[in-house]
Amino acid sequence: MDLGLKGKQVFITGGSNGIGLAVAKAFAREGAEVAIAARTKEKVEAEAKAIADEFGVKTLGIAMDVTKPEDIEKGRLEIEKEFGGIDILINNAGTGTEEKIMEASDDKWYAVWDLHVMSAIRTAKAFVPYMKKRGGGCILNTSSICATQPLWYEPIYNTTKAALVMFDKCLANELVGDNIRVNTISPGLILTPDWWKTAGILAEKDGITAKEYLDNVAHAAPIDRFATPEELAETYLFMCSEKSSYTLGANFFVDGGWLNTI
Ligand SMILES: NC(=O)c1ccc[n+]([C@@H]2O[C@H](COP(=O)([O-])OP(=O)(O)OC[C@H]3O[C@@H](n4cnc5c(N)ncnc54)[C@H](OP(=O)(O)O)[C@@H]3O)[C@@H](O)[C@H]2O)c1
Repeated sequence: MDLGLKGKQVFITGGSNGIGLAVAKAFAREGAEVAIAARTKEKVEAEAKAIADEFGVKTLGIAMDVTKPEDIEKGRLEIEKEFGGIDILINNAGTGTEEKIMEASDDKWYAVWDLHVMSAIRTAKAFVPYMKKRGGGCILNTSSICATQPLWYEPIYNTTKAALVMFDKCLANELVGDNIRVNTISPGLILTPDWWKTAGILAEKDGITAKEYLDNVAHAAPIDRFATPEELAETYLFMCSEKSSYTLGANFFVDGGWLNTI
Protein backbone atom coordinates (compact mmCIF):
# COMPACT_ATOMS: atom_id res chain seq x y z
CA MET A 1 0.00 0.00 0.00
CA ASP A 2 1.38 3.40 -0.97
CA LEU A 3 1.10 5.61 2.08
CA GLY A 4 2.05 8.72 0.15
CA LEU A 5 5.03 9.46 2.38
CA LYS A 6 7.67 9.55 -0.37
CA GLY A 7 9.51 12.88 -0.35
CA LYS A 8 7.94 13.98 2.96
CA GLN A 9 10.35 15.52 5.44
CA VAL A 10 10.14 14.14 8.95
CA PHE A 11 11.76 15.22 12.22
CA ILE A 12 11.94 12.66 15.03
CA THR A 13 13.32 13.39 18.50
CA GLY A 14 14.88 10.48 20.34
CA GLY A 15 15.57 9.02 16.92
CA SER A 16 18.91 7.34 17.60
CA ASN A 17 17.65 4.31 19.53
CA GLY A 18 14.68 2.07 20.21
CA ILE A 19 11.28 3.25 18.99
CA GLY A 20 12.49 6.51 17.42
CA LEU A 21 15.15 4.75 15.37
CA ALA A 22 12.70 2.11 14.12
CA VAL A 23 10.23 4.87 13.18
CA ALA A 24 12.97 6.78 11.33
CA LYS A 25 13.88 3.65 9.35
CA ALA A 26 10.26 2.93 8.53
CA PHE A 27 9.77 6.45 7.13
CA ALA A 28 13.02 6.17 5.15
CA ARG A 29 11.83 2.85 3.72
CA GLU A 30 8.76 4.72 2.45
CA GLY A 31 11.04 7.26 0.73
CA ALA A 32 10.74 10.07 3.29
CA GLU A 33 13.68 12.29 4.25
CA VAL A 34 14.44 11.94 7.91
CA ALA A 35 16.06 14.19 10.50
CA ILE A 36 16.70 12.52 13.85
CA ALA A 37 17.77 14.17 17.10
CA ALA A 38 19.31 12.88 20.31
CA ARG A 39 21.89 14.06 22.85
CA THR A 40 24.75 11.72 21.90
CA LYS A 41 26.23 13.33 18.81
CA GLU A 42 28.32 10.39 17.52
CA LYS A 43 25.44 7.92 17.80
CA VAL A 44 22.78 10.15 16.24
CA GLU A 45 25.08 11.09 13.35
CA ALA A 46 26.10 7.47 12.79
CA GLU A 47 22.47 6.28 12.77
CA ALA A 48 21.45 9.05 10.36
CA LYS A 49 24.25 8.03 8.00
CA ALA A 50 23.36 4.34 8.28
CA ILE A 51 19.72 5.14 7.36
CA ALA A 52 20.85 7.18 4.33
CA ASP A 53 23.15 4.35 3.22
CA GLU A 54 20.47 1.68 3.65
CA PHE A 55 17.49 3.47 2.11
CA GLY A 56 19.07 6.03 -0.24
CA VAL A 57 17.23 9.02 1.25
CA LYS A 58 18.52 12.29 2.61
CA THR A 59 18.98 12.21 6.39
CA LEU A 60 20.26 14.50 9.10
CA GLY A 61 21.59 13.60 12.55
CA ILE A 62 21.21 16.42 15.05
CA ALA A 63 22.84 16.58 18.49
CA MET A 64 20.05 18.04 20.62
CA ASP A 65 18.92 17.91 24.21
CA VAL A 66 15.18 18.50 23.88
CA THR A 67 15.03 19.91 27.40
CA LYS A 68 17.15 22.86 26.23
CA PRO A 69 15.34 25.59 24.27
CA GLU A 70 18.63 26.74 22.72
CA ASP A 71 19.26 23.22 21.34
CA ILE A 72 15.81 23.16 19.76
CA GLU A 73 16.48 26.52 18.11
CA LYS A 74 19.87 25.29 16.82
CA GLY A 75 18.20 22.15 15.46
CA ARG A 76 15.49 24.20 13.80
CA LEU A 77 18.15 26.21 11.98
CA GLU A 78 20.00 23.06 10.88
CA ILE A 79 16.77 21.55 9.54
CA GLU A 80 15.85 24.79 7.79
CA LYS A 81 19.29 24.83 6.11
CA GLU A 82 19.28 21.17 5.03
CA PHE A 83 15.56 20.42 4.51
CA GLY A 84 13.96 23.85 4.17
CA GLY A 85 11.31 22.76 6.70
CA ILE A 86 9.35 19.68 7.70
CA ASP A 87 5.97 18.07 7.03
CA ILE A 88 5.90 15.72 10.00
CA LEU A 89 7.07 16.24 13.59
CA ILE A 90 7.40 13.32 15.99
CA ASN A 91 8.25 14.04 19.62
CA ASN A 92 9.50 10.75 20.93
CA ALA A 93 12.45 11.48 23.27
CA GLY A 94 11.63 10.34 26.77
CA THR A 95 12.53 7.99 29.55
CA GLY A 96 11.09 6.23 32.59
CA THR A 97 11.74 7.62 36.03
CA GLU A 98 11.01 5.87 39.29
CA GLU A 99 11.14 8.44 42.12
CA LYS A 100 8.15 8.54 44.43
CA ILE A 101 6.07 11.74 44.67
CA MET A 102 7.03 12.36 48.30
CA GLU A 103 10.72 11.88 47.58
CA ALA A 104 11.20 13.70 44.27
CA SER A 105 12.57 17.24 44.35
CA ASP A 106 11.00 20.13 42.45
CA ASP A 107 14.02 20.01 40.15
CA LYS A 108 13.28 16.39 39.27
CA TRP A 109 9.66 17.25 38.44
CA TYR A 110 10.74 20.17 36.27
CA ALA A 111 13.34 18.03 34.47
CA VAL A 112 10.84 15.33 33.51
CA TRP A 113 8.22 17.97 32.64
CA ASP A 114 10.80 19.61 30.33
CA LEU A 115 11.60 16.25 28.72
CA HIS A 116 8.05 15.02 28.09
CA VAL A 117 5.95 18.18 27.81
CA MET A 118 7.92 21.40 27.25
CA SER A 119 9.90 19.69 24.48
CA ALA A 120 6.65 19.06 22.58
CA ILE A 121 5.45 22.63 23.21
CA ARG A 122 8.75 24.14 22.07
CA THR A 123 9.14 21.98 18.96
CA ALA A 124 5.55 22.74 17.96
CA LYS A 125 6.25 26.46 18.21
CA ALA A 126 9.49 26.01 16.25
CA PHE A 127 8.16 23.84 13.42
CA VAL A 128 4.45 24.55 12.95
CA PRO A 129 5.23 27.72 10.94
CA TYR A 130 6.96 25.51 8.30
CA MET A 131 3.96 23.20 8.12
CA LYS A 132 1.61 26.15 7.74
CA LYS A 133 3.73 27.47 4.84
CA ARG A 134 3.39 24.06 3.16
CA GLY A 135 -0.35 24.08 3.62
CA GLY A 136 -0.48 21.45 6.33
CA GLY A 137 1.33 18.69 8.15
CA CYS A 138 1.22 16.24 10.97
CA ILE A 139 2.41 16.05 14.57
CA LEU A 140 2.52 12.70 16.34
CA ASN A 141 3.85 12.43 19.88
CA THR A 142 4.89 9.35 21.82
CA SER A 143 3.16 9.12 25.17
CA SER A 144 2.70 5.82 26.97
CA ILE A 145 -0.02 3.49 28.19
CA CYS A 146 1.10 4.77 31.62
CA ALA A 147 -0.60 8.08 30.86
CA THR A 148 -3.94 6.27 31.10
CA GLN A 149 -3.16 3.17 33.16
CA PRO A 150 -0.56 4.23 35.72
CA LEU A 151 2.34 2.10 36.82
CA TRP A 152 2.50 2.99 40.52
CA TYR A 153 6.30 2.94 40.72
CA GLU A 154 6.72 5.78 38.22
CA PRO A 155 4.30 8.58 39.15
CA ILE A 156 6.31 11.41 37.56
CA TYR A 157 6.44 9.52 34.28
CA ASN A 158 2.69 8.79 34.43
CA THR A 159 1.81 12.40 35.21
CA THR A 160 3.96 14.04 32.54
CA LYS A 161 2.97 11.55 29.84
CA ALA A 162 -0.69 12.21 30.69
CA ALA A 163 -0.06 15.95 30.33
CA LEU A 164 1.41 15.29 26.90
CA VAL A 165 -1.80 13.55 25.78
CA MET A 166 -3.86 16.56 26.87
CA PHE A 167 -1.42 18.93 25.19
CA ASP A 168 -1.78 16.98 21.93
CA LYS A 169 -5.57 17.09 22.20
CA CYS A 170 -5.56 20.87 22.70
CA LEU A 171 -3.01 21.45 19.96
CA ALA A 172 -5.07 19.32 17.57
CA ASN A 173 -8.01 21.62 18.16
CA GLU A 174 -5.88 24.76 17.77
CA LEU A 175 -4.24 23.70 14.49
CA VAL A 176 -7.13 22.00 12.71
CA GLY A 177 -7.80 25.14 10.66
CA ASP A 178 -4.21 24.99 9.40
CA ASN A 179 -4.65 21.47 8.07
CA ILE A 180 -2.24 20.12 10.68
CA ARG A 181 -3.32 16.89 12.33
CA VAL A 182 -2.04 16.25 15.86
CA ASN A 183 -2.31 12.82 17.48
CA THR A 184 -0.72 10.72 20.21
CA ILE A 185 0.55 7.17 20.27
CA SER A 186 0.51 5.33 23.59
CA PRO A 187 2.72 2.25 23.36
CA GLY A 188 2.64 -0.64 25.80
CA LEU A 189 5.61 -3.00 26.07
CA ILE A 190 8.08 -2.36 23.27
CA LEU A 191 11.25 -4.43 23.33
CA THR A 192 14.00 -1.85 22.83
CA PRO A 193 17.70 -2.50 23.53
CA ASP A 194 17.29 -0.70 26.85
CA TRP A 195 14.73 -3.23 28.04
CA TRP A 196 17.34 -5.97 27.51
CA LYS A 197 19.86 -3.94 29.53
CA THR A 198 17.43 -3.40 32.42
CA ALA A 199 16.29 -7.03 32.27
CA GLY A 200 19.91 -8.20 32.45
CA ILE A 201 20.48 -6.26 35.67
CA LEU A 202 17.18 -7.13 37.38
CA ALA A 203 17.19 -10.78 36.31
CA GLU A 204 20.56 -11.36 37.92
CA LYS A 205 19.14 -10.22 41.28
CA ASP A 206 16.28 -12.75 40.94
CA GLY A 207 18.58 -15.55 39.75
CA ILE A 208 16.82 -15.85 36.37
CA THR A 209 17.83 -15.05 32.80
CA ALA A 210 17.03 -11.75 31.08
CA LYS A 211 14.73 -13.65 28.72
CA GLU A 212 12.83 -15.17 31.66
CA TYR A 213 12.54 -11.73 33.24
CA LEU A 214 11.13 -10.24 30.03
CA ASP A 215 8.71 -13.16 29.60
CA ASN A 216 7.37 -12.44 33.11
CA VAL A 217 6.92 -8.73 32.29
CA ALA A 218 5.14 -9.62 29.05
CA HIS A 219 2.39 -11.47 30.96
CA ALA A 220 0.94 -8.00 31.75
CA ALA A 221 -0.43 -7.80 28.22
CA PRO A 222 -3.08 -10.31 27.05
CA ILE A 223 -1.06 -10.87 23.89
CA ASP A 224 1.67 -12.20 26.24
CA ARG A 225 4.67 -10.73 24.45
CA PHE A 226 6.49 -7.49 23.80
CA ALA A 227 6.11 -5.70 20.47
CA THR A 228 9.20 -5.05 18.42
CA PRO A 229 9.95 -1.36 17.74
CA GLU A 230 9.59 -2.22 14.05
CA GLU A 231 6.00 -3.45 14.36
CA LEU A 232 5.08 -0.36 16.42
CA ALA A 233 6.67 1.87 13.77
CA GLU A 234 4.09 0.79 11.19
CA THR A 235 1.39 2.55 13.24
CA TYR A 236 3.39 5.79 13.13
CA LEU A 237 3.46 5.59 9.34
CA PHE A 238 -0.29 5.12 9.16
CA MET A 239 -1.03 7.92 11.64
CA CYS A 240 1.15 10.34 9.64
CA SER A 241 -0.22 9.34 6.27
CA GLU A 242 -3.27 10.59 4.41
CA LYS A 243 -4.78 7.15 5.03
CA SER A 244 -5.63 8.44 8.52
CA SER A 245 -6.86 11.83 7.32
CA TYR A 246 -9.89 11.85 9.66
CA THR A 247 -7.82 10.95 12.75
CA LEU A 248 -7.38 14.04 14.89
CA GLY A 249 -6.68 14.53 18.60
CA ALA A 250 -6.66 10.75 19.03
CA ASN A 251 -4.68 8.82 21.60
CA PHE A 252 -3.93 5.54 19.85
CA PHE A 253 -2.97 2.54 22.02
CA VAL A 254 -0.54 -0.02 20.66
CA ASP A 255 -0.34 -2.24 23.72
CA GLY A 256 -1.24 -5.84 22.94
CA GLY A 257 -4.49 -5.41 24.88
CA TRP A 258 -2.79 -4.27 28.12
CA LEU A 259 -5.12 -1.29 28.70
CA ASN A 260 -7.64 -2.63 31.17
CA THR A 261 -10.61 -0.47 30.29
CA ILE A 262 -12.74 0.52 27.31
N1 LIG B 1 10.02 1.03 25.22
C1 LIG B 1 8.81 0.99 25.75
O1 LIG B 1 8.35 -0.08 26.22
C2 LIG B 1 7.96 2.24 25.82
C3 LIG B 1 6.63 2.12 26.21
C4 LIG B 1 5.83 3.26 26.25
C5 LIG B 1 6.33 4.48 25.91
N2 LIG B 1 7.65 4.58 25.55
C6 LIG B 1 8.13 5.92 25.18
O2 LIG B 1 8.69 5.85 23.89
C7 LIG B 1 9.73 6.82 23.76
C8 LIG B 1 10.98 6.12 23.25
O3 LIG B 1 11.32 5.12 24.17
P1 LIG B 1 12.43 4.00 23.86
O4 LIG B 1 12.08 2.85 24.71
O5 LIG B 1 12.63 3.85 22.41
O6 LIG B 1 13.70 4.72 24.52
P2 LIG B 1 15.27 4.51 24.25
O7 LIG B 1 15.53 3.25 23.53
O8 LIG B 1 15.90 4.74 25.58
O9 LIG B 1 15.62 5.75 23.29
C9 LIG B 1 15.46 7.04 23.76
C10 LIG B 1 15.93 7.99 22.70
O10 LIG B 1 15.71 9.33 23.17
C11 LIG B 1 16.96 10.02 23.19
N3 LIG B 1 16.87 10.98 24.30
C12 LIG B 1 16.71 10.73 25.62
N4 LIG B 1 16.69 11.87 26.33
C13 LIG B 1 16.82 12.88 25.42
C14 LIG B 1 16.88 14.29 25.51
N5 LIG B 1 16.82 14.93 26.69
N6 LIG B 1 17.01 15.01 24.37
C15 LIG B 1 17.08 14.39 23.16
N7 LIG B 1 17.03 13.07 23.01
C16 LIG B 1 16.90 12.31 24.14
C17 LIG B 1 18.01 8.93 23.34
O11 LIG B 1 19.30 9.32 22.87
P3 LIG B 1 20.38 10.06 23.83
O12 LIG B 1 20.43 9.26 25.10
O13 LIG B 1 21.63 10.06 23.04
O14 LIG B 1 19.83 11.44 24.03
C18 LIG B 1 17.41 7.88 22.41
O15 LIG B 1 17.62 8.22 21.06
C19 LIG B 1 9.88 7.46 25.12
O16 LIG B 1 9.17 8.68 25.16
C20 LIG B 1 9.24 6.46 26.06
O17 LIG B 1 8.72 7.08 27.22
C21 LIG B 1 8.46 3.50 25.49
